[in-house]
Amino acid sequence: MFVARIIPDDGLGPILEACDARVWDGELPPPRDELLGAIAGCDGVLTLLTDRVDDEFLDRAGPGLKVVSNFAVGFDNIDVAACTRRGIPVGNTPGVLTETTADLAWALLMAAARRVAEGDRYVRAGRWKTWGPMLLMGPDVHGGTLGIVGFGRIGQAVARRARGFGMTILYYDMRPADPAVEAELGATFVTLDELLAAADFVSLHVNLTNETRHLVNAERLSRMQPGAVLVNTSRGPVVDQRALYEALRDGVIGAAALDVTDPEPIASDDPLLTLDSCLVVPHIASASPATRGKMAAMAAANLLAGVRGERLPTPVNPEVHEGR
Ligand code: DGY
Repeated sequence: MFVARIIPDDGLGPILEACDARVWDGELPPPRDELLGAIAGCDGVLTLLTDRVDDEFLDRAGPGLKVVSNFAVGFDNIDVAACTRRGIPVGNTPGVLTETTADLAWALLMAAARRVAEGDRYVRAGRWKTWGPMLLMGPDVHGGTLGIVGFGRIGQAVARRARGFGMTILYYDMRPADPAVEAELGATFVTLDELLAAADFVSLHVNLTNETRHLVNAERLSRMQPGAVLVNTSRGPVVDQRALYEALRDGVIGAAALDVTDPEPIASDDPLLTLDSCLVVPHIASASPATRGKMAAMAAANLLAGVRGERLPTPVNPEVHEGR
């Protein structure tokens, strides 16, 4: 078995108790050639979203590979179809990071709206001379309209928090949610265009697929409210980052807060980082000790079940288990 990074003990402990796994102990992910060397002949691999699993990876692992367990709910780093073709189950960590991710989406939303990071920089730079009647003003969050793009577990958890702020909640997804969920959350299903036109705050919660790559592009940004705040805790490529830079620079929208970028890490000379209206944090939405512990335990459970030939607790491609 190969574990592609040190993960919390809640997961590493059970793995090391069960077998003699090799664990990559670098702070950075294994370089591609090291990764391909390390997985050769493995029966199970625990990957992170920084490790690409594709046909080359699966060829190098060889026919003995029984499971790929991803330490994330997202799995766009994995060619799931290629794994399925080879009968290899892929596991992820759904559910356990929902609330923690929604917390961060809210932290970003409020920080971007009320210019928290910019205010902190202002103070540290020694620029705070007096209380100013017009200093660092930002839009009210309470009573605003929140547009949620992608109304799965995390999108709904974001909506639940918005109720406490007395917001109007609009959402867009491939299909409407259960009417009971809509009623509980006070959320209204609208088209993406309607959402973008009406929302003061837009929060993204879609998976990265061919359909959602650059979902937020120049054209869609131009449909948003001039002062709107865009929050992305999904995946970086969902937003066309060049278009976002231009929209912020030209005042097409008001502000953005990104937990995820394209690429990751964002280049230190990326023009977005020159803008006070853009807040960027390093993909930390699930980063609470409790949640990362649960993710580790879940990823370990998937890994160990897979190498034993059992059904994964949370498979992404459950069809590989059918007919076994
Ligand atoms: C995920 O799980 O997909 C997040 O992006 C990292 O926790």
